[in-house]
Amino acid sequence: MSWLMSFFRSQVGKKAVMAVSGIALFGFVLVHMFGNLKVYLGAESFNHYAEWLREIGYPLLPHSGMLWIARVGLLAAVAIHMLSAWQVTRVSWKARPKDYEQWAPQASDYASRTMRWGGVIIAVFVLYHLAHFTWGWSWVHPDFIVGDPYHNLVAGFSVWWVSAIYILAQLVLGLHLSHGLWSLFQSLGWSHPRFNAWRRTFARVFALVIVVGNISFPLSVWAGWVQ
Ligand code: HEM
Repeated sequence: MSWLMSFFRSQVGKKAVMAVSGIALFGFVLVHMFGNLKVYLGAESFNHYAEWLREIGYPLLPHSGMLWIARVGLLAAVAIHMLSAWQVTRVSWKARPKDYEQWAPQASDYASRTMRWGGVIIAVFVLYHLAHFTWGWSWVHPDFIVGDPYHNLVAGFSVWWVSAIYILAQLVLGLHLSHGLWSLFQSLGWSHPRFNAWRRTFARVFALVIVVGNISFPLSVWAGWVQ
């Protein structure tokens, strides 16, 4: 067991934990985007999908049982991902206790700083998004109707600055995913010169699919295609 503990304590171990929890979060974001595409099939289809999410596993599990299991798993993945990111950051800060005399940022510095700030912005966005579409706090979404996610989505995105927040957050998410998906292969030791160009394309394509899909929702409400 001690090799496992020393693996987790090492920088390589923390990066591997960050990569595995990142894969789980990426899987959620991808499935969530595909699920939301149901909005293009109309109110009934979208609301039925939201209701179905609450019924998975019923009657074996209680109503919303599977959804709660997924929520707990998701929350654990977020906590583990943020904790390991924080630990990796702290170790790299400790390795350089004194500031650079003359700071000449390198590409890797730039990418890791963007990843840290991107992660913080995405976490703040998710809290806002939950208050907006899931908890329906009246001061965040004054027009929220419990049990009618289609209406909540259309009414929510009808406010231009709310759509702007979502679009900006998706751009930040896209950058985070593009770099994160690329570097997780490295963290898991799957790196090879022959394989690297493929890795870069894979990361960019998946990040782009998620960004384009997610941004299409506020834009479609703006354009009047979803109403
Ligand atoms: C424009 C893009 C997005 C749209 C239109 C959207 C839409 C929605 C809607 C309508 C719900 C409520 C579902 C329900 O109550 O049945 C929801 C929940 C949620 N969304 Fe999003 N979402 C978007 C992007 C994201 C992103 C990028 C993330 C994460 C990074 C995210 C994370 C969540 C989470 C964690 C929940 C709560 C799920 C639950 O516990 O029931 N969403 N979203």
